[in-house]
Amino acid sequence: MTAGPISRRRALALITLGTASVAAGAAGWVTGLGAPAVRGHLLPGPAGQLLTQPTVLASRGGVLRVRLTAAAGAWLAGRHTRALGFNGTSPGPTLRVRPGDLLQVQLVNQLDQPTNLHTHGLHVAPEDHGDNPFVTIDPGASFDYSYRIPATHPTGTFWYHPHHHGHVADQIFGGLAGALLVDDGPDLPVTRDRMLLVMDTTLDAAGHVATASAMDRMIGREGELVLLNGQHQPHIASTAGGAERWRVINGCTSRVLALRLDGHQLTQVALDGHFLPAPADRDRVVLAPGNRADLIVRPTGSGQFGLVTDPYDRGGAGMMGGMGMGGRATGNRPITLATLTITGPAAPPPSLPASLPAPPTPQGPPSAHRQLSFAMGMGPGGMRFTIDGRGFDPTRDDHSVRLGTIEDWTITNTSPMDHPFHLHVWPIHVLSASAPGAPGANLQDVVLIPARGSVRLRIPFTDYAGRSVFHCHILDHEDAGMMATVNVHAT
Ligand code: C2O
Ligand code: CU
Ligand code: CU
Repeated sequence: MTAGPISRRRALALITLGTASVAAGAAGWVTGLGAPAVRGHLLPGPAGQLLTQPTVLASRGGVLRVRLTAAAGAWLAGRHTRALGFNGTSPGPTLRVRPGDLLQVQLVNQLDQPTNLHTHGLHVAPEDHGDNPFVTIDPGASFDYSYRIPATHPTGTFWYHPHHHGHVADQIFGGLAGALLVDDGPDLPVTRDRMLLVMDTTLDAAGHVATASAMDRMIGREGELVLLNGQHQPHIASTAGGAERWRVINGCTSRVLALRLDGHQLTQVALDGHFLPAPADRDRVVLAPGNRADLIVRPTGSGQFGLVTDPYDRGGAGMMGGMGMGGRATGNRPITLATLTITGPAAPPPSLPASLPAPPTPQGPPSAHRQLSFAMGMGPGGMRFTIDGRGFDPTRDDHSVRLGTIEDWTITNTSPMDHPFHLHVWPIHVLSASAPGAPGANLQDVVLIPARGSVRLRIPFTDYAGRSVFHCHILDHEDAGMMATVNVHAT
């Protein structure tokens, strides 16, 4: 089970993931504008174009300094639109850092509403200029973020997106997100390394992003277009006998992905930026909004194979309050995200190692046990989305946690819809869940709480003091108040 010399693997990974360590401009901020073009500009078209990778901005000498400008008028789905982008594209550039690096992002807000930035899944300090969800960047203003990636940070697939309460769903559905890779050189024997950021949106003929109806906001909006790296149904050209690493990010506002690849098994090696203990073969990989999976694909056979997301029933609001609202949270047909085209003579793919460098899962006994409840109900102003009966208030400390402790949280969902629970900064270990599929011997940062069900989590608050949030990652629900604060304090 060996994988060939590291130098070859390294060379392959460098070729395929790209190493656009773009030289800093006069002001010292890297934007990727004017970098070697790796985006779709050169291959416009509605469908069937080759899958492209966003520009990769990689750290050098332990530092990555980038400027991200959020503005309308992004290139999306093969044309100029009024969608939102970072530095002119949706998704924005891929940021690549190593453990121990300093990541500095100057976020420039050229939107007509407030915004900010969240580094989803990164285990970094949550306050001040770090991964602080309470920052407001007004239109026309900018903010300098500075993230120290710990030397012990897991290597894997993360992402960034806006997080200004009340605007998160609109801004991500509008196109604002990008990949964030923590990468310390090749760690698996793969022949290609691709990033696949899935986002959905709805565009009208003039290229404007559709506004969400009240029903959309209640169910959680799903777009008519499901895009891969901003492209509509691109082709992925591959060679038989390879082993490709696909870093799939579910960047959809509300849609749960149930991925399969025609004619192939998917081998999952990581979830939410954390390696699994061993590669796991799957017919389908379910990703809630915010989840990431690193998959090994071994192209076999010749011809074309669809990468498809199957319908996933995440519940509905039909029963809510006996109002007879028929909203269901899913379409009823499979959607093709991309087509894998395989050429070349059959050849055996490189073998994967039998075990992977998974982080240890936190061991009990926990020092505290909390019960939380996610709920939906009618209020005077319409549907309310609550945690423990309350809507989000950024000034309130909902939970106080002692730094250095491990806690068990049981989260109950009393509503008829699934809610993907997400905690910033501190990864979670799912101990058990009332529906199959969720628990595993791994760390993750988003977990579906099944409709009328529950999950039990173990959370190591072993480092990083500070205030942050947890919330439903159906971002319409988060914007409607399904978010709460946690304050991790040293004494
Ligand atoms: Cu992906 Cu609080 O977010
Ligand atoms: Cu997050
Ligand atoms: Cu929800």
